[in-house]
Amino acid sequence: MSEVKPFDMVIFGGNGDLAMRKLIPALYHRHQDGALCAEGRIIAASRHDISRDDYVANAREACRTYVGEAFSDTVWAAFAERLDYIRVDATREADFLPLAELLGAYPERTRVFYLSTGPALFTGICHHLGAAGLATENARVVLEKPLGHDLDSAEHINREVARVFTEHQIYRIDHYLGKEAVQNLIALRFGNALFEPLWNRSSIRDVQITLAEQVGVEGRGSFYEGTGALRDMVQNHLLQLLCIIAMEPPTSINPDAVRDEKLKVLRALHPLTGRSAIENSVRGQYKAGAIEGTSVPGYLEEDGVAPDSTTETFVALKTEIDTWRWAGVPFYLRTGKRMQERVAEVVVNFREVPHSIFSESSMPMPNRLVITLQPDEGVELYLMAKAPGDDMQLRPVALNLDFAQTFTTRKADAYERLLMDCLRGKLTLFMRRDEVDAAWRWIEPILDAWEQHGDRPKTYTAGTWGPAASSALVGRGGYCWHEEA
Ligand code: BG6
Repeated sequence: MSEVKPFDMVIFGGNGDLAMRKLIPALYHRHQDGALCAEGRIIAASRHDISRDDYVANAREACRTYVGEAFSDTVWAAFAERLDYIRVDATREADFLPLAELLGAYPERTRVFYLSTGPALFTGICHHLGAAGLATENARVVLEKPLGHDLDSAEHINREVARVFTEHQIYRIDHYLGKEAVQNLIALRFGNALFEPLWNRSSIRDVQITLAEQVGVEGRGSFYEGTGALRDMVQNHLLQLLCIIAMEPPTSINPDAVRDEKLKVLRALHPLTGRSAIENSVRGQYKAGAIEGTSVPGYLEEDGVAPDSTTETFVALKTEIDTWRWAGVPFYLRTGKRMQERVAEVVVNFREVPHSIFSESSMPMPNRLVITLQPDEGVELYLMAKAPGDDMQLRPVALNLDFAQTFTTRKADAYERLLMDCLRGKLTLFMRRDEVDAAWRWIEPILDAWEQHGDRPKTYTAGTWGPAASSALVGRGGYCWHEEA
């Protein structure tokens, strides 16, 4: 693993929720592991008029909460030495001059500007960084999602950021790509000779990708109102997972080799427009129900949500990939809040045996590969085996790979990996501009179709697997969702 060179990391929105919940604890962990070089500063920037001491005290509390048992006062004392705070109103160019002065002390260091702010501030911050002479060759900028609200706004951000930084300096985060389990998908596909000959339309019947959450909108009602599940989860996380499942083998793990292949998948997604978008999608919105025995309110009762809101908290889609490898294979994508279980999984259903030699009561079931990403990481391959006894009765049995049992090392959070990759200058797990663009080009017609057809979300009770129409969508193809099998 390449060494981390001396760095100054400036976190805009440094006092905000993401910084406190994820970024600072991630950096703390990496400091504790000895992965950060001694000459590494973390400078939180925000518009709040607080002192460095106050900031450090806030950050300490956040680390105590989110690092949990691994938190240590001694480690904290050394980590806190790295922390600094500077008041910057991101909309005021003049506020960037003191920042330039602070960074000017170490002009040769790697500079990372992490924009953990709303996307409305991205272009302004980049311009001000440029004007303050901070967009130097050794600078990198990290953009958090959501990267815009639609194709136009995403293109606007990308265009404006590109006026200041070149593409190899821009790190667009999709935190799903930093998850250990998602990288394991790459290992599974390209580190084993077993799957590749079967990984195509001849052997695979359908693919299902589910990102189900038990949480609701977690106090972010007003943000979520203007977003919805398609923009929040499908445009980025789900499509990125789909790319990794469906892409051709890249020639290497280099950033552009991988990103070129992902882009081809995004561009080959069968367009869902007009009526076909309506027929191949299901929108849902949760109503009050119970999650593991605890009552929870419906979406319309959440703070910041309009009483007649039509924002979807669930979406299921059927799509295809128009390539020789995948033509005709349905890909079912689904995500939702307040679902029965928290699970992120990819299910690959293989085709049936071409001819069964067994009796009708013992027909072999198609093989199934279940790759679970969350909450526990594992791979199960269902094979048919003979049940003990005199009769030839077949039963599906899982070959089970449990990563928690196999690897006992601490499981790093996605942000740890992504922050370290950024410090090391590794772009493979970050989205390139054309990927973001292609994803929006596919998503936008679905949003348009919903609007034009006045498609209202179907309600589902919190704590279930979504509206009945979701099962019907998969049922039309003659299939069912994994949990219904
Ligand atoms: C975020 C979405 O990108 O991902 C949230 O904005 C969602 O709405 C979250 O809850 C899910 O991430 P994870 O890592 O908890 O699966």
